[in-house]
Amino acid sequence: MTNELDIFMAVPSFKEEDVRDKTVVVIDVLRACTTMITAIDNGAKGIIPVENMDAAGRISQSLDSPQYLLCGEKDGKKIEGYHLGNAPLEYTPDMVEGKTVILNTTNGTKAVKKAVSAEKLIIGSFLNMNKVVEELRTAEESIAIICSGWRGRLSLEDMLCAGNIVYDYYDGDLPECMPDSVNIAFGLYQKFGDDLEGMIMQSSHARRLHDIISPEDITYSCKVNYTDALPILEDGMIINRNGKET
Ligand code: MLT
Repeated sequence: MTNELDIFMAVPSFKEEDVRDKTVVVIDVLRACTTMITAIDNGAKGIIPVENMDAAGRISQSLDSPQYLLCGEKDGKKIEGYHLGNAPLEYTPDMVEGKTVILNTTNGTKAVKKAVSAEKLIIGSFLNMNKVVEELRTAEESIAIICSGWRGRLSLEDMLCAGNIVYDYYDGDLPECMPDSVNIAFGLYQKFGDDLEGMIMQSSHARRLHDIISPEDITYSCKVNYTDALPILEDGMIINRNGKET
């Protein structure tokens, strides 16, 4: 059942050939991937991840204004003139239903853009854990888990989430001779998996966001199996492929 699997700890830590033709899961618990999953779960037509404001501007010009929302953050704060920031609880059905979300964030959207040569690119977080593991079990290719991290540094919350995926994928029994990053993530989850929210509240990024967002957003981001949404990148747009497509 199990394929070759590796974990990359931040955006600069992987190269194109590390993800080409593989099944890839991109993780950004705080907050980009949690936000993408929430928008998809609340009826967004799709999400177009972009690397920067120029790309966001170009794409928004190609769409009719009622159809899309310009969304994203800079240093955690909503970008001026954008419809929404990057707080998952902003992405309510009222706001996003039927809309295309153009999303621009510091790490998460850049990780997705860098991994587009993947055979299949899945957006993962704690919210859709079972759905992600279920999908990995159908993979024929090797698996790469990409932690978005923060500006090239690893983030505790992403490594914990990667550890949760690996723990569930191997039913808690990690094979021998796995890459160091996989052993570290697995061990981290084994040790702190019972108190995800407690650990993540102490993370560098949670502290960085402390004065910017409501603690409810972090509590929400730590919910496990809150949804069965399965956002997958297809032709540059992230859409829901959980088998319940409308
Ligand atoms: C990111 O993509 O870097 C994060 O989601 C930033 C944030 O917390 O908004």
